[in-house]
This record gives sequence, C-alpha cells and structure tokens, in this order.
Amino acid sequence: MANIFCTREIPRSGIRLLEQAGHQVTVNTTSSLSQQQLLKEVKNCQALLTMLSDTIDAEFLEQCSHLKIISQFAVGYNNIDVACAKSHGIVVTNTPDVLTEATAELAFSLLLCVARKLLPASANASAGKWTGWEPLGFLGKSLHKSTVGIIGAGRIGCEFARMCKGAFHSDILYYSRSKKSTFEQLYGATQLQLKELVSQSDVLSIHCPLNSETAHLFNESLFAHVKDGAILINTARGEIIDQDALLKVLESNKLFGAGLDVTSPEPLPPDHKLYTFDNVVITPHIGSATLKAREEMSLLACTNIVNVLEGTLPLTPVTV
Ligand code: DGY
Repeated sequence: MANIFCTREIPRSGIRLLEQAGHQVTVNTTSSLSQQQLLKEVKNCQALLTMLSDTIDAEFLEQCSHLKIISQFAVGYNNIDVACAKSHGIVVTNTPDVLTEATAELAFSLLLCVARKLLPASANASAGKWTGWEPLGFLGKSLHKSTVGIIGAGRIGCEFARMCKGAFHSDILYYSRSKKSTFEQLYGATQLQLKELVSQSDVLSIHCPLNSETAHLFNESLFAHVKDGAILINTARGEIIDQDALLKVLESNKLFGAGLDVTSPEPLPPDHKLYTFDNVVITPHIGSATLKAREEMSLLACTNIVNVLEGTLPLTPVTV
C-alpha cells in the first residue's frame, strides 16, 4: 500500500482505480494549495498526481526525492523540472493522446469564433442592439481555401490540420524540427521555415511544447513577417507568445484577431489589456476540458501510478 497525493479533484474513475489497487489517496479539494502545504502533504507519499498549474521545480524536488512517480494530469509538463526529477530517480509521466481531439476541437472553435466575430455579434444581440439585418454588420474572414500554418506538427497540430483540411479545403503548412512524412502524405502539408510560414498563412495555430527553444517564439521580429489579416490561435502555452509584442500587433490592426486558450500569466488578471480587444477571444485554458478527455486523462494518469508502484513500466512516460 502506498500513499498518493492528488493536487486537485479529478474524475473519480482514476481515484477508484488507485484505491482498488490498495492505495491510500488524499485529494486536495481547494484551489489554493501553497508550495509549503504541498510539501507537507507529499512528505509521506510515494506518488504525486500533479496539474499543469503546480510548480515542480528543483527546490521542490530536492525535498521530495523519496517520490517514485510524478504523474502529470496534462500532456504538457513544462511546470516540472524533468531532468532534475530524473536525477532523483523519480519517474515523470503525462497524459498524451487522450486529449488530442479535445484540444484540437478547442483550437478549431476559437478559429471559427474569431473568424466570424461570434462574441461581439452575440453581445450585440443580447444587449438589445439587434435592430435589423445589416449588410455591413460583423463581416468575418472566410476560411474557405485558407492557408493554415501549424506550429508544432505533433498529435494535436496534425488533428487541427485534419479538421481545417476537411472543413475548409485548406492548404496546410507546418513548422517542425523534423520532417513529418505521413502528415505530408495525408494532408499535402508542406514544411517551411517559421518566417516563411507566417508570411504565407491566413491562420496560424500554435501546438508546440513550451521549452527554451519555443519561449517567445512569437516575438516582435516574427510578428513583422506575419501576413496582414491573419488569425492567431494558441492552445499550447502562453509563454510561446511575447504578449507585449502581441499587444503591439493587435493595436496596429495587423491581425484579423486572436484566439487564446493560454496566456502568461494564468489566470490573466481581469484588468489585462488583452481583454479590451473585441477581436480577441480568451478562454481559461480549457483545451482538454471535455467529459471524455478528462475521464480518460484520469484513468491514464492513475494507471501510470499503479504501474510504477507495482514496478512495471508506465504507459506514457516522459522519463523512466
Ligand atoms: C495540456 O494538457 O498540456 C494542455 O494544455 C491541455 O489544454
């Protein structure tokens, strides 16, 4: 029997799985657990189930080297110092695959929402300002045969490309460190350097992980190459965009709009300037928030814990 701490409530199915395997699970039911409290809780635990909002840095890991596994309830794990965890012999796992469609669907929703000005149009109607059919009202951007630039052609990026290809007959461009032959064959996708890609794309959608190479990838100098009237979608990590540079670009009206499920910081303070643009849609990091995805994330994150505690391989390791 092992003690397991879960930093937030997750669908019960995973927790039941841990309990059925004979483990003792403590679930934090508040949304404000300090680092000090977390350290105290983890003291007698062998496994920790984390969220992307938890900071698992070297300082934390120094005091938790007794952990056998840190199971991240997300595909991204930039909040965890993985190299340091590995040096302490702690296995880190994540939840890829099961949230691919959910996150791509959210990127697709943001794209349509921005392109067809759904938020300002809906606000207009619900505020009683809908006085009649407007020949020049809320004119959107057509996505039919648009050129879509995918930044990061991993699972989610490819699924988003598939949706755009099917729905809009889009031409697909992608930026990735490696060539993706199957992706190219399936969707006629073309690999380009980033500057070239942003200068040709009507839609830019970010799907790469956050790391030292991708932090502020979208900065002032890259924005200078972005095609006028493009739509920028980010469902990956806020820090991939230099937000000050984004604000300048929005002020200059270069972009048709932006859809951001991720920002820096999170949550974005209510008085932040990004909220003042009616061509920007901001959602509170809900990429994987479907009942199905969260259920499967719960089962996967907890199966990884059971496996590691039983001395077998986890299903989705980041490190072993
Ligand atoms: C993840 O799981 O890392 C994504 O941010 C989901 O939205």
